[in-house]
Amino acid sequence: MTTVAAPTVVHTRAPGKINVFLAVGDLQGDGYHELATAYQAVSLYEDVRARHSDDFTVRVSAGPGVDVSGVPTDESNLAIKAARLLAATTGWAGGVDLTIDKAVPVAGGMGGGSADAAATLLACDTLWQTGVGRDELLRLAAELGADVPFAFAGGTAVGTGRGDELSPALAKGQFQWVLALADFGLSTPTVYRELDEHRRRHQSEIAPVRQPVVDAGVLQALRAGDAGMLADSMHNDLQAPALHLEPGLSAVLELGESNGALAGIVSGSGPTVAFLTADLDSALELQIALSAARLTVLRATGPVHGARVVAD
Ligand code: C5P
Repeated sequence: MTTVAAPTVVHTRAPGKINVFLAVGDLQGDGYHELATAYQAVSLYEDVRARHSDDFTVRVSAGPGVDVSGVPTDESNLAIKAARLLAATTGWAGGVDLTIDKAVPVAGGMGGGSADAAATLLACDTLWQTGVGRDELLRLAAELGADVPFAFAGGTAVGTGRGDELSPALAKGQFQWVLALADFGLSTPTVYRELDEHRRRHQSEIAPVRQPVVDAGVLQALRAGDAGMLADSMHNDLQAPALHLEPGLSAVLELGESNGALAGIVSGSGPTVAFLTADLDSALELQIALSAARLTVLRATGPVHGARVVAD
């Protein structure tokens, strides 16, 4: 009989995301808004390495263009919260030593913290050999944050509820994205609050918020792998409040759209701006044009897989 030795270090990876469509409904009693969103996982990854330890600790390092100076390494770090939640749920008595290599912009609206949490759940589950199973890991993911289940699942999916109730969406081919990073972050709750305040101020002029739904054109474009059609149907209700808080982002959107992007969209709650391009050549040209304007630029493709263990 062969026995499998317990691993001493586990390396996992989870992707960042772009919301190609995000409709925000009313604020609910739990402080969250009802959402209808279409997520796409893109090829910027958070890499987590987990090692046995008596305590819960985390170190963070940065990939190109990413500034990790604002990332906490104390108990407020979402990866520590994820590890502690799994330990408490499974009765694991020890801790874990985590290192995170971040390639997703911090506080950029691309779900970097959520990807850390998803990759940490998988890393600790594998390291501790808890055997809790995928459904339980997804349930714990939803407790950690609205975007964490998607970072776990990856691919292309529709999110409803807080964004955490996922149903897979059919998607064909690869989409080419160019990302303009900001040298500041935007707080997600602040952007949602700005949207609520705007809706309150303009109550008499704007139609009441209805049950949010993902536009059929978005789903059709994803199914067909048609970048032009997706560009025409992309939408984000958080874009207007993000631009209101950071007016300089409008010029970034205009610059991308006048340099070959099919369309630009503020990613999630921003401030990262995601440009969809027709093909790799236009993505490379746009990357050069935006870099020449002194913006920090990354390229990514999507959809990509969700959280997985990496064999080193
Ligand atoms: O779930 P997560 O911690 O990522 O959410 C951060 C904040 O974003 C929430 O505290 C809430 O203010 C806002 N949010 C929301 N409605 C959602 C998701 C997030 O209002 N569906």
